[in-house]
Amino acid sequence: MFRTIGAALIAACTLAGTAQATPQAAKGERLWQQRCAECHAVDTDQTGPRHRGVFGRRAGSVPDYDYSRAVRKSGVYWDAASLDRWLTDPEKFIPGQNMDFKVRNKAERAALIAYLQTLTPAPHP
Ligand code: HEC
Repeated sequence: MFRTIGAALIAACTLAGTAQATPQAAKGERLWQQRCAECHAVDTDQTGPRHRGVFGRRAGSVPDYDYSRAVRKSGVYWDAASLDRWLTDPEKFIPGQNMDFKVRNKAERAALIAYLQTLTPAPHP
């Protein structure tokens, strides 16, 4: 029983480690620190909502964060395509939103998205 849990934990850590280790995601993490950390944290809400688990979640769905109505009602799910459009120009993608920031460089957006993808939700205990 404990052996099984241990093995599963090791497998999970190895997987997370692999995702972090891709050069693309590592570059994304550096960019995220430089650009996004001013307003976002991984595990807490700041000016912007927390980023853990953002890849795959519905836009505007962190329970305690005060989103714009536009984002909450957008019906968008965050995947590589929608994140790319958002980061290119949030206001063009979801008019009325509150994030005053753009990433103009496509390669930088791709790296950032690869990093966001590594921030998988914490496993349920
Ligand atoms: C100047 C502050 C600021 C910066 C810098 C910023 N953001 Fe945001 N971000 C926000 C705010 C505010 C929101 C909430 C928007 C709303 O509710 O309309 C947000 C929302 C988001 C969302 C939607 C999250 C959700 O839960 O639906 C994503 C994804 C996101 N930001 C990614 C990024 C990334 C990646 C970067 C760095 C390239 C970044 N942001 C930089 C302020 C910022």
